[in-house]
Amino acid sequence: MSKQTDNKGKPGACMTRRTFLFGTGAAVAGTVLLPGLPGLEGKALAAEIARYPRKLIGQLSALKLNAPLKFNYPDEAQNSNSLLFRLDAPAGGGIGPDQNVVAFNALCTHMGGLLDGAGAFSAADQALGPCPLHQTSFDLTRHGIVIGGHATESLPQVLLELEGDDIYAVGMLGLIYGRFDNLKTG
Ligand code: FES
Repeated sequence: MSKQTDNKGKPGACMTRRTFLFGTGAAVAGTVLLPGLPGLEGKALAAEIARYPRKLIGQLSALKLNAPLKFNYPDEAQNSNSLLFRLDAPAGGGIGPDQNVVAFNALCTHMGGLLDGAGAFSAADQALGPCPLHQTSFDLTRHGIVIGGHATESLPQVLLELEGDDIYAVGMLGLIYGRFDNLKTG
């Protein structure tokens, strides 16, 4: 499935980037503070997100609880491996009626361990990990923050929009392991 468009000038989704930024508990006294993009606030953050493609990655009605779906974003390169989740609980950046649908890049931020294998997701903890290399786990309900192990950076979160039943990836917070810019593979 790949219906991909430029993200610029694409209003009309049920959850806009502004809704995301100010509807997830990330806004504190008018200041947007999100993991992975230190120093970026308000318009600067919106401009950063606008650089990304808008890609159809799934349907809400087809997502099963605690059964992650693989997809690639923002391109088809190997380290763009990502996972789409319907969690048990509301999550930071979550979309859908229960605000529990989130997505993350699947490369550990420590040294790039792959977290999309069987058993990498813990439904009991709503966490991804422990990483097969050095045991880091990431809390998927709290923007992918590290909850144990060697990594110090949160897992890059894929920002989502819901349009009817369609789920679109529209941007990212945090840097994919091995990249200097998420939109450049080389
Ligand atoms: S690569 Fe994942 S903890 Fe080291």
